[in-house]
This record gives sequence, structure tokens and C-alpha cells, in this order.
Amino acid sequence: MLLLDQTRLPHEIKIEPQKSVTQVWESIRQLKVRGAPAIGIAAAYGLLVDLDPAAFADRDAIVQEIANRAEYLETARPTAVNLAWALNRMRNRLHQSASNPASVRASLLQEARLIHAEDRQICQAIAEQGLHLIKPGMNILTHCNAGALAVSELGTALAPLYLARKKGISFHVYVDETRPLLQGSRLTAWELDQSGIDVTLICDNMAAYVMSQGKVDLIITGTDRVAANGDVANKIGTLGLAILARHFKLPLYIACPSSSIDLDMQTGEEIEIEQRDPDEVRGFAGVRAAPENINVLNPAFDVTPANLVTGILTEKGLLTPPYGPQLADLCK
Ligand code: MRU
Repeated sequence: MLLLDQTRLPHEIKIEPQKSVTQVWESIRQLKVRGAPAIGIAAAYGLLVDLDPAAFADRDAIVQEIANRAEYLETARPTAVNLAWALNRMRNRLHQSASNPASVRASLLQEARLIHAEDRQICQAIAEQGLHLIKPGMNILTHCNAGALAVSELGTALAPLYLARKKGISFHVYVDETRPLLQGSRLTAWELDQSGIDVTLICDNMAAYVMSQGKVDLIITGTDRVAANGDVANKIGTLGLAILARHFKLPLYIACPSSSIDLDMQTGEEIEIEQRDPDEVRGFAGVRAAPENINVLNPAFDVTPANLVTGILTEKGLLTPPYGPQLADLCK
């Protein structure tokens, strides 16, 4: 299994072979692979890394090993439901799978490939469902990275933008840099720029100013988990944008593949927010920008209440409030 190490972008394109399940866990944890759908896909394949069927006496032995691996990989990051969602798909397949170690592995590889292929179709469908939102001459603001790097290809929030560009619609995108780990400047600005889309990078704390100048028409982001009532967990800073959007009467759309919907969470309050290493805030790339050991808060995500969300863009269409029954229908 090969992963593009996203922590090295945009300076270096480094493909890193994954040789053990521990390495895959670390890659997810360290954000070498990140973005909700991408970590689900990586975990699905990751279950099978360095798994030699010949080393297992029978079906039960390999089933137990894969179940242990799934339990372990699920602990890599808590907020994006796609990780547990993909691993649950693999677990279901495990229980249905055939009689000897080699066919168990083959069957699980098939399931991982299916998850990967389905994500491609979902991203394409989100692009088509969201295309009508992108009008010529628009200024769009996005946060974090919900582009090709966060999924199988194309993206979720960025998917309609890529399709619009392909169709010759011209527009402009403001990209929040997304402190502390700069997914906006390192990844989103990079991938949009490479595709020829007109991009302006801003610091997160400039969004209010840019909106106050009438320079934003629409905000679109991805999500890591949407609760049954439509509350949205996404990269820290999304809640601030949603509050600003309400103040400036701007539409805020959340692009959400069905793999990011979690009907077991009644509201966003139940979603676990990942707390990360304080050193991520004390500096960047090993360069300290704060007093040593200063107290730090580093939640990686926040929850935007459903009532601040104009629409949830899914592969099956654009949902508008009230979200509850439509999200439930979508998952049937
Ligand atoms: O910490 P990250 O980089 O994994 O956070 C990613 C995000 O918050 C994305 O917006 C989200 O996963 C949607 S990706 C299609």
C-alpha cells in the first residue's frame, strides 16, 4: 500500500510505502493521510498490509487478526466517522467471508476496492449535485481541505468547483490557511492552483474582513461527521465561519458524502472532538512561535449547529432544513 505523505506538501511529493498496520495507524494519526473519506479508505486497505494468509492455520485465526487490526486502526482518530464506517464495512465482509485464510484476505481486498471505487462515484455525484451553486464570477470561501487530497479523487466541497471549472465557468476562491496545520494553504491552495482555479490565500482571521467587504458570495466546506439532526463537525474554524456567514447573510453549504453521516449521534454534542498535540499550536514545522510549554488548547474540530447551515450537499442531492428526516432517508 502506498500513501502520498500530505505532511510534506506542497514542498515535496513523497510516496511512502506502508509496511505494517502500526505504520498505517501512525500515518493516519500524523495526518500523512487525512480528510474524512481518505482515512476511511486508507484504513480499509491498511487492515490488509503485511497480512500473509499462509501464516494463519485456519479461517478463525485470520478473522481474529483482522478484527484486532480493525479495533486498533479505529483508535487512530476519533472525529471523522468515515474511519469507523469503512472499518465496519470491512468487519461485515469479514463475517460473510469464505472458508480459508487466502479467500478471507481476497474477499476483504475486494471490499476495500469497492469502498474506494464507491467514493469516486460519490465525489462525482456531489460535483454534479452542487454544480448549480457555482455561478460565473462568484467569490467562494473554503476552509481546510475537502478536495482531491481528502478523498479518492475530486473532493467533496471542491468537487463542484472542479466540475464548474471543467465546464468553463470562471470564479474565484478564497482559501483559509487553516491553522494550526495549514491544510488550507498547504493543500487546498496548492491543489486548486494546480488545476488553474483563481485562488487567494487568507489567514483564518481575515475571513470576517473579506466578508465585510462584500467579497464572498458563498462558503462551502467538507465535514467529518454529520449528526442525525444536521449538526456538522468539521475542521476547527468552521463554526466561526458559520456565525460570520449568518451575520453577513451569506449561504454556507456543507458537502457531505453519505459515509460522513452518523445517525447514532442525535446531535453534534455527542461527537467526540479530537484534541491534538499542543506543539502543533506552539509553532509550525519544528519552528517554535510561542513561549516554551505555554498552555495550549488544540481541538482539531468544532461543531456547527444545523440552524447555521444553509444546505447539506450530498451525492443524492442538496438537503435544506429540516435535515433530520432527509438524512435518515439518505442512509436507508
Ligand atoms: O484534520 P483533517 O485534515 O483530517 O481535517 C479534515 C477536515 O476537516 C475536512 O474538512 C473533512 O475531513 C472533509 S474532507 C472531504
